[in-house]
Amino acid sequence: MRPIIAPSVLASDFANLQSEVEMLNNSQADWLHIDIMDGRFVPNISFGFPVLEAIGHHAQKPLDVHLMIVEPELYIERFREAGADTISVHLEACRHLHRTVQQIKATGAKAGIALNPHTSVQLLEDVVADADLICLMSVNPGFGGQKFIENTYRKIEAMKNLIIQRNSQALIEIDGGVNLDNAPLLLEKGADVLVAGSFVFSSADPMQTIVDLKSSK
Ligand code: DX5
Ligand code: ZN
Repeated sequence: MRPIIAPSVLASDFANLQSEVEMLNNSQADWLHIDIMDGRFVPNISFGFPVLEAIGHHAQKPLDVHLMIVEPELYIERFREAGADTISVHLEACRHLHRTVQQIKATGAKAGIALNPHTSVQLLEDVVADADLICLMSVNPGFGGQKFIENTYRKIEAMKNLIIQRNSQALIEIDGGVNLDNAPLLLEKGADVLVAGSFVFSSADPMQTIVDLKSSK
């Protein structure tokens, strides 16, 4: 199966957001990855509801919203109302992860769980069956354009085994530093979804770069 490609809008030109979203509409991108940062869970602030709504207004593809915020349970319904199709929360930000996953599903959105690079996939043993998506961070969250962490390959294998063991339907998403050099091995190890920000938007031809990522298996 060909991978799901989710370009990260964080790396796009915010002054021309409408044309960036239209480029993604016309491309082979499957989802739009939307990074929400609060300056507390991560040392950076991106954007919030009004910008998400503006993106949703033009996007013709599912919005994959990655919450890098503390206490995400306070905002799940609002993110859904603002247009999120998938909502991913960080395990490290949730005291009651199982409850928050159910809360996301109750809104009708797909539920994702994101893990920082240092967090063991084994911590998902008792919740992976409830998740639709597991986002393995392959950089420390907070910024685009960082270097890919090689240990991610090992984590994908362990995650894949856990998904099979627990009879889960969850997709594995890789987020951070993804490019054409690491994409083939990521897919071989079992990744289903590739997020790519700077690699897509800094390339000379973003639409072609998306085609290349899509066919990198
Ligand atoms: C990092 C974000 C990523 C980021 C990916 O905190 O979660 O989604 O935008 O950007 P690149 O592909 O440039 O590493
Ligand atoms: Zn992200």
